[in-house]
Amino acid sequence: MHTAMRLRNVIVSLSSAAAALLLSFSLVAQIPLAQTPPMGWNSWNHFADKVTDADVRASADQMVSTGMRDAGYVYVNVDDTWQGERDSSGVIHSNGRFPNMKALGDYLHSKGLKFGIYSSPGMKTCGGYAGSFGHEAQDAKTYAEWGVDFLKYDLCSFADQMAAERKAHPDDPQVATQLMITAYRKMGEALRSTGRPIFYSLCQYGLGEPWKWGPSVGAQMWRTTDDINDTWARMALIGLSQADLAPYAGPGHWNDPDMLEVGNGGMKPEEYQGHMTLWALLAAPLLAGNDLTKMSESDKAILLNREVIAIDQDKLGKQATRLYQQGDMSVWSKPLSNGSVAVGLFTSSWQSRDIPIDLALLGFAHGAQVRDVWKGQELGTKAGNFVGHVPSHGTMLLVLSR
Ligand code: GLA
Repeated sequence: MHTAMRLRNVIVSLSSAAAALLLSFSLVAQIPLAQTPPMGWNSWNHFADKVTDADVRASADQMVSTGMRDAGYVYVNVDDTWQGERDSSGVIHSNGRFPNMKALGDYLHSKGLKFGIYSSPGMKTCGGYAGSFGHEAQDAKTYAEWGVDFLKYDLCSFADQMAAERKAHPDDPQVATQLMITAYRKMGEALRSTGRPIFYSLCQYGLGEPWKWGPSVGAQMWRTTDDINDTWARMALIGLSQADLAPYAGPGHWNDPDMLEVGNGGMKPEEYQGHMTLWALLAAPLLAGNDLTKMSESDKAILLNREVIAIDQDKLGKQATRLYQQGDMSVWSKPLSNGSVAVGLFTSSWQSRDIPIDLALLGFAHGAQVRDVWKGQELGTKAGNFVGHVPSHGTMLLVLSR
């Protein structure tokens, strides 16, 4: 072989080895964080601005005693309103409801759980507490010293800075979006610089299509919509509007249709079951938002159903796509790593519906073994058109296998 060519081959194989090494380093950095959608609990949906250190510890205790931790719910995320004042050096301190953040982090870690916290790129959080604007690196360092493992970074008052930018550039809305992306990147870099793996969760209600740039600012998940609330209408509106976002979810990066409301009392058990079904099919983060000290047996059965959790956490990391929609009925499917397909049947009707699915359209032209996941029952081998009987505001979750 010509010497120059040999040299070129050596360089090519060296550089591909170097590339493989680099790739494996970057994968190693990601593995502990987000190979599957994060699971845990967040204080906001139940405690809102009243949350205390004692509430968080009690929730952590419940996560252990109910089996939630062992089912995968490991993040314990303190949402807005933990913040106190900054000292003369600009270091952020917690307020009187959170006497010692480092001690809280230590407590959570001693239980085999992870510690999440909340801030904003703006001057103020949505609750009017201190945001991180101008203190990004300092705050990231403080979080790392407290043992924080997760940051939810909520746009809130940064929207004012974007509005000013929009006013200054009325012909170019991208300028305001860029300002937001830069602010999110700044915190992403600050977190990375701490050297501690801190899961980075963007919360800006889907503004500026974060699914397209979230990974580039170091985020592992991003909100796709405005806030959820504890009603079937709001939950279904959010969950069923995610059909186009499937290409953006995968190991290391997840769409976030907001936290769970299961157990907060505003929906019927079958509606909460639909909520959990939809979130699992969407490969959404599963962040419970209820009072864990007062869970009914039905709430536990929904949050702790291992088969449903396994669908959410499937290592292929695919988000469901909508197979079809007809009036108030829709059918969604999520391919699983073992070749099976999880299928959800939904109706927003006040009446029950018989929803047909053509198994051939799901890749089962020669029939499929059908399992009803919530009932925990094998329905046998079916071919052609399968008709699922779905109760009003209800759901059916199937797994089809060869
Ligand atoms: C926003 C977020 C919520 C919650 C509150 C806290 O509304 O979307 O999830 O964090 O702020 O103030």
